[in-house]
Amino acid sequence: MKSVVIEQPGELVLAERALPEPAAGEVRVKVQFASICGSDVHIWHGHNPFAKYPRVIGHEFFGLIDAVGEGVDAARIGERVAVDPVVSCGHCYPCSIGRPNVCKELQVIGVHRDGGFSEFAVAPAKNAFTLPASIPDKLASLVEPFTIAANITAFLKPQANDVALIYGAGPMGLTAIQVLKGVYGVEKVLVVDRLPERLALAQENGADQVFNNSEIPLAAQLEGVQPTLIIDAACHPTILAEAAALASAAARIGLLGFSGEPCSITQQALTSKELSLFTSRLNSNRFPQVIEWMEKGQIQPEKLVTHYFPLAEIEKAMTLFEKDPRTCCKVILHMG
Ligand code: NAI
Ligand code: MN
Ligand code: ZN
Repeated sequence: MKSVVIEQPGELVLAERALPEPAAGEVRVKVQFASICGSDVHIWHGHNPFAKYPRVIGHEFFGLIDAVGEGVDAARIGERVAVDPVVSCGHCYPCSIGRPNVCKELQVIGVHRDGGFSEFAVAPAKNAFTLPASIPDKLASLVEPFTIAANITAFLKPQANDVALIYGAGPMGLTAIQVLKGVYGVEKVLVVDRLPERLALAQENGADQVFNNSEIPLAAQLEGVQPTLIIDAACHPTILAEAAALASAAARIGLLGFSGEPCSITQQALTSKELSLFTSRLNSNRFPQVIEWMEKGQIQPEKLVTHYFPLAEIEKAMTLFEKDPRTCCKVILHMG
């Protein structure tokens, strides 16, 4: 089978690899579509501290079950599935309270183990979620990125009367806009980015008002509006202090970033307004919820997609995705 392998940092190859056999409790998926994420680019360039090499990348993928391991019902062969990349031990403290995404022995498919930019991939059977016919094949790999928005909003508990502010109108910001508007019915969703093309996408994805902070700081443009719910989907370390300063008292702030640089903020800036801070990593069992949102039409994955490429053009697709955020949002690979 053909697989996208990062042999070592900086070295991406479309390699011929042996077909994997599903182990006990696993299924093998004949991958149909897979989407590119910033973390795939990070693994390619050696910027992901968790990745071991060589690695088949890809953690957003969809396909058909074509083989099952011991203990898995053979009737599952042929099912259309989206695969949750979060593989957990099931018995540590975070697992025991329903947070397998921060399992002590967390293994992310496409990061810690081989992933879905491949003609075939194996995964635990319980990570393979059957999709209703209403979710088309070519959008089904987008369940995973929406689970990130599902996870952070589960902490933030959005309400219709919130004034929400989202930093960053990349894929993560856009999924958050769609979930705040389409699922939670938040009346006012404000979005800030530095790129006008990304802000136009934010509007297409449901933002009520957009701000470009490339020249004029956001504070000078908000005219006293105090957001009650803020999501940092741009993830620069300076954003937290700005968000806390702009926030309403009693606001909630959600953080998605993984920067190793310190954020500088005073206790006063947080405590005087009694702000709540939440962080969110990957997703904890949110695939069923996102599948239901898609089925009911509460979210529109097609609004994120700008490009499709065949697997053979992986390097071109990853390069475009990385270098051209003005024209690119979600880029989907067709395994064909
Ligand atoms: P992206 O790079 O496509 O989007 C980020 C957007 O933020 C860009 O449009 C950029 O122009 C904008 N931006 C950057 N600095 C800004 C600033 N100071 N003010 C306003 N806008 C600014 O990335 P993507 O894929 O949307 O991911 C966003 C972040 O989320 C990344 O840092 C990524 O590591 C993180 N992430 C976290 C996950 C988690 O589970 N916690 C999962 C996936 C991504
Ligand atoms: Mn992703
Ligand atoms: Zn665990």
